[in-house]
Amino acid sequence: MNVTVIGTGYVGLVTGTCLAEVGNHVTCIDIDAEKVSRLNKGSSPIYEPGIEGLIQKNLKEKRLNFSISYEEACSDADVIIMAVGTPSRVDGSANLSYIQAAAESIGQNLEKSGTIIVTKSTVPVGTNRKVKAWVHSKLKGTYEFHIASVPEFLREGSAIHDTFNSDRIIIGSESEYARDRLGQLFDSFKAPIVHTSIESAEMIKYASNAFLATKISFINEIANLCEKLEANVEEVAYGMGLDKRIGSQFLGAGIGYGGSCFPKDTNALVQIAGDIDHHFELLESVIRVNAMQQKRLVEMARTHFSALTGKKATILGLAFKPNTDDIREAAAIEIIKELLVEGVSITVYDPVAIDHVRELFGNQIEYCTDRIQAVKDADMMFLVTEWDDIKSIPLQTYRSAMKQPIIFDGRNCYNLEEAEQSQVIYYSIGRPVVQPKTEIHQ
Ligand code: UDX
Repeated sequence: MNVTVIGTGYVGLVTGTCLAEVGNHVTCIDIDAEKVSRLNKGSSPIYEPGIEGLIQKNLKEKRLNFSISYEEACSDADVIIMAVGTPSRVDGSANLSYIQAAAESIGQNLEKSGTIIVTKSTVPVGTNRKVKAWVHSKLKGTYEFHIASVPEFLREGSAIHDTFNSDRIIIGSESEYARDRLGQLFDSFKAPIVHTSIESAEMIKYASNAFLATKISFINEIANLCEKLEANVEEVAYGMGLDKRIGSQFLGAGIGYGGSCFPKDTNALVQIAGDIDHHFELLESVIRVNAMQQKRLVEMARTHFSALTGKKATILGLAFKPNTDDIREAAAIEIIKELLVEGVSITVYDPVAIDHVRELFGNQIEYCTDRIQAVKDADMMFLVTEWDDIKSIPLQTYRSAMKQPIIFDGRNCYNLEEAEQSQVIYYSIGRPVVQPKTEIHQ
């Protein structure tokens, strides 16, 4: 099929490239000419394992190209997929101005009937109806078109793998034609396809993300109890997860969820509920618990040291999770802000996300490109992102590298036996604190 994808962010770029990989002719449009030119040379604007190789392969095989022209890309398309951003407004609601602009541009450039217009961006329930009106308002002829909602469930850092190994594909449509054609298009990804109404498809995306965020906040609350009751949250999560009704995934206690989706979508769902006079009590608590959890390591440090002022801290890992350079809503940002207020001098390390953090904090903190050098002479280390190159550092390394080997591990990267043998002071989430057998001078 001829497919046009609007927006070359994570979702658009991955969807377009993977649809080309399974044999479709795909044009991805973006308004950023520089980005488009870079993509046409096979260079990815995002850090995502595997994406660049797939872009280059499909450019070469002439199934994929990038353009700034709606005219060229929309006139001949069988399916147009909108994957533009829906950033949060100040009140938490989704800003739909990019969706509206894309829908209106599609309307202006349709030149035949039968095109299917798919929304992949996460949009509030009811938005696809608006998309229909926005497209319609700009049509130059009496063309018929179909709308559909096909929400995206990929994770950053494993986006290609997730696209080809999806648990399900949701297709929300209102015509048999759209249902059948989209069924054919997405069948190549070999995942179970579920057909729903447009509104249900829109809600499935929000409900899924809100539920996963709820699991994380729930286990983090259990972790906070475990710390006080001398239980170990990892044993608890394992025991819980074996119950198939609960499931073992997303029970990893840590320093809360970040990224571009969970924080944005949970806030948006609270807002969507508020708009119809429904107070989403549970989700509001999930959001509050997460905000507290992101500061949990600093709270531990405050309790450990009588005063933090003048101390030297190292933060290992800045991205909101490994295998991405994305720092949106990352716990590291909150930790840096809290420590700066306390008058702590901070050195940070991340294998790929340092430049983004530099844009936020400039010369208020120090940046180090060597993970061991970064902890030199530090009074405390915060392990914030579980990158392989960070969690592979043996704990005992910190004993000689740091001024005091005091570690606050927000991702439970080490087992407690290793911590005990390493003669460090080791705090983690929801597990007992490990103290060295011989005293460390503080
Ligand atoms: C998420 C959803 O998983 C995906 O389906 C949706 O399309 C977009 O949002 P993503 O934000 O890329 O994907 O990352 P994910 O791997 O889900 O992690 C989100 C956050 O939750 C991260 O900060 C991660 O550290 C945290 N997390 C995840 C936990 O704290 N504990 C867990 O057990 C799992």
